[in-house]
Amino acid sequence: MKRPKPIVEIASTGRWLPDNVVTNQDFEKTLDTSDEWIRERTGIRERRIAPREIGAGYMGVEAAKVAMCRAGIEPGEIDVLICATATPDRLLPSTACAIQAELGATNAAAFDVSAACSGFIYALGVAEGQIAAGRAEIVLVVSAEKMTGITDMSDRSTAVLFGDGAGAVVVRKSTNGRGVLSNYIRSDGTLAELLWRPVGGVVEPMTHEALERRDHMVKMAGREVFKSAVKSMADAADQALLRAGLTGEDVDLFIPHQANIRIIEATAKYAKVPMEKVFVNVDRYGNMSSATIPIALDEAIEQGRVRSGDIILMVAFGAGFTWASSVIRW
Ligand code: ACO
Repeated sequence: MKRPKPIVEIASTGRWLPDNVVTNQDFEKTLDTSDEWIRERTGIRERRIAPREIGAGYMGVEAAKVAMCRAGIEPGEIDVLICATATPDRLLPSTACAIQAELGATNAAAFDVSAACSGFIYALGVAEGQIAAGRAEIVLVVSAEKMTGITDMSDRSTAVLFGDGAGAVVVRKSTNGRGVLSNYIRSDGTLAELLWRPVGGVVEPMTHEALERRDHMVKMAGREVFKSAVKSMADAADQALLRAGLTGEDVDLFIPHQANIRIIEATAKYAKVPMEKVFVNVDRYGNMSSATIPIALDEAIEQGRVRSGDIILMVAFGAGFTWASSVIRW
């Protein structure tokens, strides 16, 4: 297959994480769980939890400021501001509008993308489309998640999995052949009930009973989600590489969604990318939904694991179900 020419590139990255570290040992004090169970089943050792008053909007602004500073972008230069989030500050209006107001990005169109853990790659695809169509020059993509705000901390099967954080990237026209070589997005809405928040929208509004049952929090059929995640992430890895005219052997750095080390290892094995080329930080942060990939990318750059010209594969899976992948030449 002919190698595609990139239209857009990631000009810069930024991240923000709360200072508060909650370890597996901390959960041992409140739940019938153990550090050993959590580490063996998920690979998670600790996660960051934001204070009550901090939401996705605040975290997104802080991550965006870093990315904008590194790209030398002023707020007024942003044409489109996309926030990928599964944990919006409010149901109305969008968290992207809150971020726009705080940044003073007065010339931007701002909206949220709701694709759960796949949200960053979905938003990157939307950014690419806007720039390709000539409707935008600079797009700010923010993935901000306060997962602990929608997690039932009394449910051991979900409480230990999630964390809070935000990542941001500035997307602009490609220079020197760098940038996005492929972007693949898919979903399957028939499996929604395996991972969802049943109550709190207009179809099932909040009631006292629902609140007591904690039906406004994340409910997950972990084992089924696990199987779908492995299958869909394998498909996504295949498709992103195929569409970029590459194979797993060409990949210099693989950044999978950080939900579970066993899912990461299975996907890497399937894609034929050795683990030394796989970026892993799920041990330190847990699952931060759409924010995991941009945060991991930002950390990988900081750690010197990304060189000019490197091929980066990104693959995600989340509620919806949604799954997505992208190949980037750095
Ligand atoms: N501590 C101790 N025991 C636990 C805990 C816990 N924290 N949680 C569950 N268990 C128990 C269960 O009750 C069950 O006990 P039983 O056998 O007596 O019934 C046992 O452990 C096994 O439970 P499983 O759910 O089968 O465990 P599994 O090995 O599947 O691991 C996990 C659970 C970690 C949730 C895994 O299924 C998983 O990672 N799933 C995918 C999650 C994911 O990828 N999500 C991505 C999308 S997230 C998003 O979009 C927001």
